[in-house]
Amino acid sequence: MKDQLEQIKALALEALNSVESAGDLEAWRTKHLGRSSAVMDAFKQLGSISKEERPAMGQLANEVKSALEAALAERQTALDSARVQASLQGERLDVTLPGRPIPRGRLHIQTQTMRRIQAIFAEMGFQVYRSRDVETDEYNFQLLNFPPNHPAREMQDSFYVEGGSEDNPVLLRTHTSPGQIHAMREYAAENPENPAPVRIILPGMCYRFEQITARSEIQFTQVEGLAVGENITFGDLKGTLSEFARRFFEAEVRTRFRASHFPFTEPSAEMDVECFVCMGAGCSVCKHSGWLEILGSGMVHPNVLRNGGYDPERYSGFAFGMGPERLSMLRYRIEDIRYFWRNDVRFLEQF
Ligand code: DAH
Repeated sequence: MKDQLEQIKALALEALNSVESAGDLEAWRTKHLGRSSAVMDAFKQLGSISKEERPAMGQLANEVKSALEAALAERQTALDSARVQASLQGERLDVTLPGRPIPRGRLHIQTQTMRRIQAIFAEMGFQVYRSRDVETDEYNFQLLNFPPNHPAREMQDSFYVEGGSEDNPVLLRTHTSPGQIHAMREYAAENPENPAPVRIILPGMCYRFEQITARSEIQFTQVEGLAVGENITFGDLKGTLSEFARRFFEAEVRTRFRASHFPFTEPSAEMDVECFVCMGAGCSVCKHSGWLEILGSGMVHPNVLRNGGYDPERYSGFAFGMGPERLSMLRYRIEDIRYFWRNDVRFLEQF
């Protein structure tokens, strides 16, 4: 039996030499260490040998079994490390290779300025009202109290598009003011007898069929404002807009209001801010006047209130309109408005 055990061991170890995969190894384990393997048979035969021989043979059988188990474990380790080695070789990665930079996008300067303006008015309780870019003559002009022969209605000032009729053509809005009528009508429709107060700003793109110069573009943004309610006064207009200017320019700038004219407001005023560069002393930004004009405004004309569904006997309101490109030009000292919509990254990436 001793020889038999030695042979079992020798055969198994020799077979192990040709095991190359995890599958082979498992098959080897079943065959040489499994329940019906030769070593296990040897244990069963122990009962039929003599008492004297039994302890020595039992010990030998145990040794053979342990030796095979040890050889199995060693082989297992060798196979594992060979597999790791192979995958390291196959998927070699050079961590010193420089990365490819991903170009970072950014918000357009006017998106940034518009968001600043919106945030400031939001703090003062104004909501954003989005109005359409394509308008009818009725909303863009008539309901805003433009007289029929007003020069702004001439063909060369507007981009007309298809549709509409002879006396109500369709055009790209020339200002954000027509949104005032849409907004008032929407608010008033909810409760025509007692329309709710309005406190909104209307940001958006406007279009004019004009000569493009350093100071005027055929497309530009505007931010319109409208507050309608009971007891709204010119003092509210001045307070709101002066506070806006201080927050926008982040300086304690003074403001002044000059009488002006717009068909949709009465009285009308243009607001100047004290030059935030020289604080009024005179410099190239303010062309040595000490003041910068930044917006048009006024008390909403009774006809416009009525067209929006608000009784001018009971309600009053103020409105204003500003050009955010002009605000950006002043804040960042940009000299030419044509940079804004030309899409030149050398300009855009500076903001
Ligand atoms: N709509 C005017 C323009 O485009 C700007 C403006 C002036 C708007 C006075 C207003 C306002 O609401 O009250 O030039």
